[in-house]
Amino acid sequence: MTAVGAVGIEGYREFLVRRDGDADLLHRHLASREEFFGGLVANPVRSTRPIDRGVFARNLHRRRPEPGLSREMLFLLATAKLNQAERFGVGLGETYGHNSGEDAPPERVYIELEEHYHTRLLAYVLDMFGLPFQVVPPPFVMRQFVKLNVFIPERIGIAFVGAGEMAGCIMFDELRRVGVELFADEPDVAARIERLYSEILTDEVGHVGYCAAGCTPAERAIMRKLYPVFGRLFARQTAEINLLISSEKLRARLDRPFNVEELTADLKNETFLAAHP
Ligand SMILES: [Fe+2]
Ligand SMILES: [Fe+2]
Repeated sequence: MTAVGAVGIEGYREFLVRRDGDADLLHRHLASREEFFGGLVANPVRSTRPIDRGVFARNLHRRRPEPGLSREMLFLLATAKLNQAERFGVGLGETYGHNSGEDAPPERVYIELEEHYHTRLLAYVLDMFGLPFQVVPPPFVMRQFVKLNVFIPERIGIAFVGAGEMAGCIMFDELRRVGVELFADEPDVAARIERLYSEILTDEVGHVGYCAAGCTPAERAIMRKLYPVFGRLFARQTAEINLLISSEKLRARLDRPFNVEELTADLKNETFLAAHP
């Protein structure tokens, strides 16, 4: 679904207020997002699949998973590990006050808070399987990649961050599809995976558009060029993704032009793209 009305960054600001309600940086609070979580908590969903917490915890700390893990376990590990990369980046940006202060444009506060909620959205996926949220640093290369994105001067960094957001969209979309397929025999679990991942995807598509809108045409070309490179890096750094999605399939998808229509076609949320990368 595409919004009518204001376009570009102006339109994106209106969309964010429509989607998220009031933003409160101090309490890390988006009014509508809290309502959304309230709805989840009021309707708990629990998978009946036996998931071994010990195996999960052990593999969360491993760079490569132990051989012979089920696809379900790999999916949960990939979810937990993407969560760690998000959390690491958001935490750094917040610690350095990147989106704080009088001169910070309102959408930056929204974007930071949305990224915060992604950690929670992914944690709720794990929660359906009785798995706790844990803090584990992402692998070395991912940490350096995240730091590069957080600390690079904004004018140079916007195309980098934008390409990272594009690659993130593909990872979340692929994992969403894998999760829905894996748990098809537990329809409410599959539906909730779809819901939680779709929320993230809706936000990330918005972030892509926001970055693209801040880019010159030459920078947008850099975004498009870097995006498959970053996508492959994310997949390599999260070994579970490579085991879940064949590298040929992922490569083929990343080699095609970034397709927002395809990404958003089955999202039930309103989505907004301030500019196409
Ligand atoms: Fe995110
Ligand atoms: Fe993002």
